[in-house]
Amino acid sequence: VPETITSRSAAVAADERDALAPLRARFELPADVIYLDGNSLGALPAHVPAAIDDAVRRQWGQDLIGSWNASWWDLPNRIGARIGRLVGAAPGQVVCGDSTSVQLFQALVALARLRLGRKLIVTDGGNFPTDQYLADSAAELLGMQCVRVSPRDLDDVLDRDVAVVSFSAVDYRTGELWDAAAVTAAVHDAGALMLWDLCHAVGVVPFDLDGIGADAAVGCTYKYLNGGPGSPAWIYLAQRHQGAVRLPLTGWHGHADPFALAPTYTAAPGIQRARIGAPPVLSMVALDAALDVYDDVDIAAVRAKSLALTQLVMEYCRMLPGVTVVTPDNRGSQVALSMEHAYEVTQALIARGVVGDFRAPDILRLGLAPLYLRYADVWDALETLRDVLENDAYLDPKFARGLAKVT
Ligand SMILES: Cc1ncc(COP(=O)(O)O)c(C=O)c1O
Repeated sequence: VPETITSRSAAVAADERDALAPLRARFELPADVIYLDGNSLGALPAHVPAAIDDAVRRQWGQDLIGSWNASWWDLPNRIGARIGRLVGAAPGQVVCGDSTSVQLFQALVALARLRLGRKLIVTDGGNFPTDQYLADSAAELLGMQCVRVSPRDLDDVLDRDVAVVSFSAVDYRTGELWDAAAVTAAVHDAGALMLWDLCHAVGVVPFDLDGIGADAAVGCTYKYLNGGPGSPAWIYLAQRHQGAVRLPLTGWHGHADPFALAPTYTAAPGIQRARIGAPPVLSMVALDAALDVYDDVDIAAVRAKSLALTQLVMEYCRMLPGVTVVTPDNRGSQVALSMEHAYEVTQALIARGVVGDFRAPDILRLGLAPLYLRYADVWDALETLRDVLENDAYLDPKFARGLAKVT
């Protein structure tokens, strides 16, 4: 357990000791903002605009169609391998492409088709909405039923009727980190298959997909991996299933011989079958460049800093009247605080340059991205929060909800 930080000077001292501190210079961040929303949209790595510019002006503008062979065709595999390293996947099990929602659909249907005699797909009622919607949809398509249960209560529903269990490793709202190894083992004991959504884990929580025996996993790349708005997601299919799975989206990039242009589909060997159609090349170029930041980073060091930053927030906020720390000790890299007027408080913080986000009905969510946040930033953000609460600054009518958009 890292020592408690109880003053700004202690926070500054922690920054001076921080081996990850130099990474901040690799990001472009506005000078007057403390950005605590990297769990929604990661910051811009400073070298990404040049990579996109090269992709547009040289690769597209000058090299035209030749760029498909030179580099574009291979992007989903290359990026997949780089992400695989961050989530404990041996090579040949991850490809990048399309949205998390699409990849959830692919994985849910593919796994459920391996257990067609069974009746149930299990998801978490606290799961991110898209995960729940797609579990419903996959179940409907396959004549199964979707059941919602918290990972905490999985035993209540886990029996030999369950085909697939689909959970997020970190609860998007509370930040709770589930015991993925124990859950996966229990699911396998019931003869079912396990799908993990690592959106809120990849890049901050070390994961060992191969080691825990996960059957499939998906994740986005625009949060802690800093791939940029709408950057494509990824899918992991365990090697042992790759020969047998039948993915529902049988696009031509997943064909065994795409340029034979055959009228019917034959799945490519290995993870290649999880490719669908033409990838969003410009987004992938941005993501590929963004991943450079992770090249020399020890993910265990990222995790240690994440735990220290979240500990600072949790300990400070436990002292704030009217604030309840919702996030438990087993956590990802965010802290959820419940309070009255959470929406207005979030707006008042943003007006003072502290950017977190609000999750209905009463949660202020602070994301702590260890690659570019300083301990002193977090300290300053907490002091701002205290001031906003103590002085009722959030009651200013300009922060009221009204017809303004709900973030
Ligand atoms: C757990 C989880 N799954 C999925 C998504 C989003 O899916 P998509 O990338 O398709 O928008 C999010 C977005 O925050 C998420 O937190």
